[in-house]
Amino acid sequence: MCGIFGIVTKHEKNLGNILTAAGQRLSYRGYDSVGVATIHADQSIDLRKDVGKVQAVAEKYNFSEMNGCRGILQLRWATFGEPSQVNAQPHLDSKGLMVGAHNGNIVNNVLLRKQFSAEGMLVRSTNDGESCVHAVERHLLQGNGMLDAIRLAYQDLEGDYAFVIASGTDEKLYAIKNGSGLIAAFGEDFTCISSDLPSILPLSHEIIFLNDGEIVELTPSSISIYSAETGEKIERQAEVVIETMEAAQKGGFAHFMLKEINEQPQVARELLHLWDRMGEVEQVITAIQQARSVYFIGCGTSYNACVSGAIFFNNLANRSVIPIAAPQFMAQYNQSTNSEDIAIFVSQSGETKDVLNAVDVARQNGMRIFSLVNVVGSTLTKKSEIWLPLACGYEVSVPATKTFTNQMVAFLFLAYRLAGKDSSVIHQLPQLMEEEIRQSMQKVVDFVPFFDGWKDFYCLGFGLTYPIALEGALKIKEITYAHCEGMLSTEFKHGPLAAVSDRYPVIFVSTKRDIPFIISGINEVTCRGGLAIAIGPQNAALTENAYHVLPIVETNDEFLSILAAIPLQLLSYQLSLRKGYDPDFPRNLSKTLTVD
Ligand code: M6R
Repeated sequence: MCGIFGIVTKHEKNLGNILTAAGQRLSYRGYDSVGVATIHADQSIDLRKDVGKVQAVAEKYNFSEMNGCRGILQLRWATFGEPSQVNAQPHLDSKGLMVGAHNGNIVNNVLLRKQFSAEGMLVRSTNDGESCVHAVERHLLQGNGMLDAIRLAYQDLEGDYAFVIASGTDEKLYAIKNGSGLIAAFGEDFTCISSDLPSILPLSHEIIFLNDGEIVELTPSSISIYSAETGEKIERQAEVVIETMEAAQKGGFAHFMLKEINEQPQVARELLHLWDRMGEVEQVITAIQQARSVYFIGCGTSYNACVSGAIFFNNLANRSVIPIAAPQFMAQYNQSTNSEDIAIFVSQSGETKDVLNAVDVARQNGMRIFSLVNVVGSTLTKKSEIWLPLACGYEVSVPATKTFTNQMVAFLFLAYRLAGKDSSVIHQLPQLMEEEIRQSMQKVVDFVPFFDGWKDFYCLGFGLTYPIALEGALKIKEITYAHCEGMLSTEFKHGPLAAVSDRYPVIFVSTKRDIPFIISGINEVTCRGGLAIAIGPQNAALTENAYHVLPIVETNDEFLSILAAIPLQLLSYQLSLRKGYDPDFPRNLSKTLTVD
C-alpha cells in the first residue's frame, strides 16, 4: 500500500534524512519502490528513486545529502505498472518544473495517459501517479493557478487517491485527499503532510485531519484547506494528538488483525472501483467462456475463497468450475488437463510454493494461466498470462481476513460479469460489510464463553456457507490453537456426530435458502446435549431451534455468505485474546509459505 509524505521548511536545509526517516515509518504499510524529491530555494528539483527497501535506496542514491525547502517522499506498492525505476514515484511534469506523488489508484489512468501524450505532454511511465502530475500540468498550461489546476485535475482523475505536488513556480506544497488517507501537521518552522498519523507523530502532535474532496496548501507556517468542488476556503483548527506511533500504526486498533477486519469495506470498495474499469477483467471472462474446464486453485484461505467462487459461478452464471487445493491439483488433474482448460490461481502473497508448483504443472499441460493476487510484482503475477489485483494493500496479520473477503468479492464480480448481470449492485456490499462489522463486534462477545474449556469443536455450513465454515474453522485453529473442524453440515451425521456430548459447541453457518438443512443438523446436535450456535439470517425457525443465534444483516444469500465470514473472524480474534495469544503472529506459522 503506497505512502506519501511532504514537508515545507522556512529555510533551505537537509531534508534527505527527514524524508528517509518518514519513509521508514511508512514502510510498515508495504511497498516495493522508494523515491524522494527535494526542491531547492532556486526552484530546481532533485529527484532520486528506485525499486528496493528504504535504507538500500537511500544509501545507493545518497538521500542524506539532499537539501531543499520542500520535499516529497513516496513509497510505492505497485498496482499500475510493474515495480521499476521509471514507475517509482515521485514523477516530474513534462518539463521537469513540477514534481508530485500519489497514494491509491487512478482507475482511468490508461485513458488519461493517452490523452496527455496526444496533448503533447511527456509521459515517461505506466504508473498512475504520473497521471496526477500531468492532470495538474494540463490545467496549468491552460493558464490556471495551482489551486484551480488541482481542482480541475480532481474532475479528471477517477478513483480513490491522495496526492502531493510542488511546482517550481511558487514556494508552496499542495495536496488533495479523495479516498486515501491524508493528514497535515504543524512543526517548528515547517509544516508537513502524510498518508498516516504514525509517520507524522515523531515530528508533530499538532494535526489537521482532512476529508475527502479537500485540497490543502502548505507554507512553512500555514495550512489552508479548500473545497475541491467549490474552491471555497474551509476553516479548521489543528488538534493535539497524544497517541504513540506504535498505537497509530495499528490505526488505534489493538492488533493488525482487528484493523484489517475493519478495513474490509474500504478495500472491497476500492476493488470494485478498480475492476469496473479494468479491461483485463473482460479478457479473463472471455477466456472462461472459451474454456473446456475452469479450475480455481489456491491454498488455505485462498482455497476456501476458490470454493466460494465455484458456488457463485454455479448460482449466478450457470458455469461449473472445479475448485481445488493446489497440491491436489497436481495429484488429481496432471494427466487430464490440456490447452483447452484454464487455471485461475488465487493467492494473497503470490509466492506460495504449493501454488507455484501447481502453476508449473498447469503450464506443462498447456493450460492458460490467470491469477487473482494481492502482492503486485510477486512470482505468481509474473507467471500469469493476466493477473487481476486483489487491491487490499498490505496485510500484516498472519491470519488472512481482508484478502479473503476481497477474493470472494472478486469471484462474485466475475460471476456477475460472466452472467451478463449488472455488477454495479455489488457496490452495496461494502456498506453492508460496515453494518455487519458494527453489529458483530458487539454480539460475538456473547459467543465466547460457550467455548471455555473446549479444545475441539466444529464449524458447519452448507452450500454457500460451506467454504465460510471451512474458513471460520481455519481462523479458529490458526489463532486459538484449538482443533476446530470445518465441514459440510450434512456430513456431520456420517461420523463426527459421535463427538457430541453435554454442551459440546457446534457452530452452524446458514443462508436463507439452506435453513431447512441446517435446522436438521442443529437438532441432531441439540438432542444429544450439544450447544448449537448459529450464524445466519434473521429467521424465527433458526432462533427457535439453535441455542444461540448471531443474525447477519439482511441481504441476498450470495452477499450474506461473504458477510458471514466477518463474525467468524471476530470470534476467532476474541477466542485468541481470551487465551492470551497474539492473533497477529500465531506460533508455528508464517505469512508467506515459500516451502513445499
Ligand atoms: O499467500 P497465499 O494466499 O497463497 O497463502 C495461502 C495460505 O498459506 C494462507 O491463506 C493461510 O492459510 C492463511 N494464513 C490463513 O489465514
